[in-house]
Amino acid sequence: MAAPMVLAQTAPGAAPETGTATETATGTIHADRPGPVMNRQVFGQFAEHLGHGIYGGVWVGANSAIPNDHGYRSDVIAALRAIKVPVVRWPGGCFADEYHWRDGIGPAAARPVKINTNWGGVNEDNAFGTQEYMGFVERLGAEAYVSANVGSAPPSETAAWIEYLTSPTGSTLAKERAANGHPAPFKVTYLGVGNELWGCGGNMRAEYAADLTNRYAQFAKSGAGPMLKIASGPSDSNYEWTDTMMRLAGKAIDGLSLHYYTRPRDANWNDKGPALGFTEREWAATMAHTLQMEEFVTRHSAIMDKYDPAKKTWLVVDEWGTWYDPAPGTNPGFLVQQNSLRDAVVAALNLNIFAHHADRVKMAAIAQMVNVLQAMLLTDGARMVKTPTYWVFDLYKPWQDATTLPIDLQSPVYRNGDTALPAISASAVRDTGGRMHVALANLDPHRAIPVAMTLPGLRPGSVSGRILTAPAMDAHNDFDHPDALVPLPFHGAQVKGGALAVALPPMSVVVLDLQ
Ligand code: AHR
Repeated sequence: MAAPMVLAQTAPGAAPETGTATETATGTIHADRPGPVMNRQVFGQFAEHLGHGIYGGVWVGANSAIPNDHGYRSDVIAALRAIKVPVVRWPGGCFADEYHWRDGIGPAAARPVKINTNWGGVNEDNAFGTQEYMGFVERLGAEAYVSANVGSAPPSETAAWIEYLTSPTGSTLAKERAANGHPAPFKVTYLGVGNELWGCGGNMRAEYAADLTNRYAQFAKSGAGPMLKIASGPSDSNYEWTDTMMRLAGKAIDGLSLHYYTRPRDANWNDKGPALGFTEREWAATMAHTLQMEEFVTRHSAIMDKYDPAKKTWLVVDEWGTWYDPAPGTNPGFLVQQNSLRDAVVAALNLNIFAHHADRVKMAAIAQMVNVLQAMLLTDGARMVKTPTYWVFDLYKPWQDATTLPIDLQSPVYRNGDTALPAISASAVRDTGGRMHVALANLDPHRAIPVAMTLPGLRPGSVSGRILTAPAMDAHNDFDHPDALVPLPFHGAQVKGGALAVALPPMSVVVLDLQ
């Protein structure tokens, strides 16, 4: 669903747009009123069989000249381990509702070759299947989130896949798993019950999708501990879908997904705007469209509250991020795009929104992990580059399982054409070790903005931090300049008398550590 072109909006806690912008952002971080925990699973990632998301990006095979660990790229594994990826959603996406798990088990040479009809029409040789995925999450220290095929396979297929994965030794499927090299059951923590059932997952009505969700959820039983079932939820502002799914299937599920992509030009999926070389108008539109996540999360959560006031059912934003026109010269079905400072700010805005809604947003997955859409990593043969988005996930590591601290924030307004946005976005947490951290993003591409915060409940003695910024809106890392944009030490913050003062450079993401 397209976002409206009316871009003026106000973030929670930000000053209403009055036409007279204040020049300093002011606010309070309530260390004295701790909020809910922000689950580490909010920093999850999505890895689909799409372009070079898996093949070439994660998996090169054991015989590759690219350094690898039993087929997994060593550089990619090391980079992803360093940002503590907590959960990986796989195998799709649209791919999931055409995926048959039996195609991806047993000797690789005997696996069938299929056509990836969703993404480029290329051959899918199933070299990366169930066991390869479980080996991947194991190497990352992440949890497994498998998406079942609801659109084109019967519930018995999902039930058998989960039995194959999780049943203890003894059953025929457990013996088959053992014969394929893994006698012990795997732990599957999350099961996606289809993907985008309103679209590529089968073009269903919400009522029909809810009935199927009840049915598939009923027969998928883990033999290896709890497995949370995540229903295929709405996109963007499809509030009717959320209402119907919660009303008819709410009791069968543990989570409801939400998908929302930021597109600079969101009127037409065939003209989304370039990843690099964009105008300030497109920068502003990108920020405005990203901030719509606040409204979507708020309103979907409110509907969920009607059916689940205790907030037991997770809102799982398991596809989010930027979606631009494909990089020139690439297969349009592979969704390759560069990743710039703009993406870094988008990531920070979204993560701050998720922090503000930590009571309901309990898991998320950026789309996607490697080489696809708003990726953490880009690869080209043996080369790999960490994107600005990767560095934001690195900066936000202390947010994983941290206690959120409420923030009241009055922000100056950034204006461009008919767009007026709060320039500053913030979130704060007390990490699992008791240290306090503040994230600040300044989306204004021109103005440095002073930030003054009071800190009731805290009298820090010192502050240090890191900053991600550059002089150009589309600054980025490429294979010849892999470290053009990396976090640097930040010296623009001070604490004095229980207050925090920051000089926040334009178009920057800053994370501060207070002690
Ligand atoms: O992430 C790319 C695609 O976007 C996914 O396959 C699908 O779920 C969504 O429409």
